[in-house]
Amino acid sequence: MHKNHLLFTLFGATGDLAARKLYPAIYRLYLNGHLSDNFALIGTARREWSHDHFRSVVLNSIQSLVTDEAHAQQFISHFYYQPHDVQDKEHYIRLKNLADSLDKEYDLRGNRIFYMSTSPRFFPIISKNLKEEALLSTNGFNRLIIEKPFGHNLDSATQLQSDLNEVFDESQIYRIDHYLGKEIVQAIYNMRFDNTLFKHNWQKDSIDNVQITLAETVGVEERAEYYDTSGVTRDMIQNHALQMLALIAMAQPENNTPEAIQQEKIKVLNSIQLYSSLEEVEQHVVRAQYSSHCDLVGYRQEDKVNPESVTETFFAAEIHLNLPQWEGVPFYIRSGKRMSRKTTLIDIQFKPARPNLKKEHLCFEVAPNLGYELWLNAKKIGTNNTSTLIPFRHYYTDEELVSSPDDYERLIGECIDGDKSHFAHWEEVAAAWRYIDHIHTFWAQQNATEIPLYYACTEGPEEANALLKKTGRKWKKLR
Ligand code: BG6
Repeated sequence: MHKNHLLFTLFGATGDLAARKLYPAIYRLYLNGHLSDNFALIGTARREWSHDHFRSVVLNSIQSLVTDEAHAQQFISHFYYQPHDVQDKEHYIRLKNLADSLDKEYDLRGNRIFYMSTSPRFFPIISKNLKEEALLSTNGFNRLIIEKPFGHNLDSATQLQSDLNEVFDESQIYRIDHYLGKEIVQAIYNMRFDNTLFKHNWQKDSIDNVQITLAETVGVEERAEYYDTSGVTRDMIQNHALQMLALIAMAQPENNTPEAIQQEKIKVLNSIQLYSSLEEVEQHVVRAQYSSHCDLVGYRQEDKVNPESVTETFFAAEIHLNLPQWEGVPFYIRSGKRMSRKTTLIDIQFKPARPNLKKEHLCFEVAPNLGYELWLNAKKIGTNNTSTLIPFRHYYTDEELVSSPDDYERLIGECIDGDKSHFAHWEEVAAAWRYIDHIHTFWAQQNATEIPLYYACTEGPEEANALLKKTGRKWKKLR
């Protein structure tokens, strides 16, 4: 592995995400040699921490991964802390001085990754000041990693994009969608394009329907203020679910470059059929909210949630694509909080080879187990000639998964390498917002003061089953 020379500047260094995900991911990159002596990280946030205190927080966050205490000490010695008010220009000057001196000390060669993990409202002001106060280097690369949400709707996302573009061009912007860093999500590509079995059958003549499920058992946790203005539609569908749909539906890219992959995904997301009326939305889209059940409080009783909130914690939809190869094939997506299982699945159901046969299907299990199941029609054992579905399964073992990097490790590592294959292009984000926005526009016409409910700890509302039942289909059961 070649040596990476690199300075990270992290905005939001005292936050929960940094401690839970970013420091462990950066430590793993250090353990596997992706980062070595020539890296430094400046953490910034409002709090008045010292370098030492910051290092102790980082050490604490990686504790479960540490086997060699001296090596861990060496790792945290690369961490520096700078109290920072994002509005205060003076602070950027201090930051620049520290960045320049670390660049010399660690021979960082002017390579800089700026990581924004603050409240999204600060993204534009931070990026503006990075340029105005000359924090961008002139002798290496400058890249920006930006956490979600990327806007609240298409208008705000477009504004954010244009603010960022004053400073960074598209090739420098890495929008994190951590689902794109998951092992099995990345593996969709290989399964689809490296098997003759699927390569030629991945279209309307062979596929009956596609089901994408992102079910969670958790509720809103401590994020009610954000979640109540966002709902599952903005939180999980606009990004994670539609990205998975794009990976499943895209045509084979001309080559393996990030640009070619992104172009194919853009085509898919731009081809999503928009619903033409409120009636159509009501027929094809389900929203619902969890209510109290199994000793769990309902959404409206959660701390900091408006007791009259009509925010959706469950979403399901039938999506069609305006692409000849997918004509007539429904893509069903659903996601919800407080469901009976934490399960992320993509199930591809094939058309039966003849009437009365069950549908063969290929299931990608993204979580909680990682693997695949292919169910094929085979002869029922015994003296008969009937076919029944039998599974061919492959699940990775815990030992195998040790060598599978976690989402953030993978994505940060790819950004260090300048590989954008698993980052969404602006046009993908915009197309996804277009779909979400038009649903919200119709929902707003309803002016609803109530929302359908589903019991916590179940598979969601009956309305979601009805969505498939009308064509004789069924959701894949959550396991
Ligand atoms: C995040 C959402 O993007 O994804 C959370 O904001 C959600 O609400 C989380 O819980 C789910 O991620 P994972 O990796 O646990 O499936």
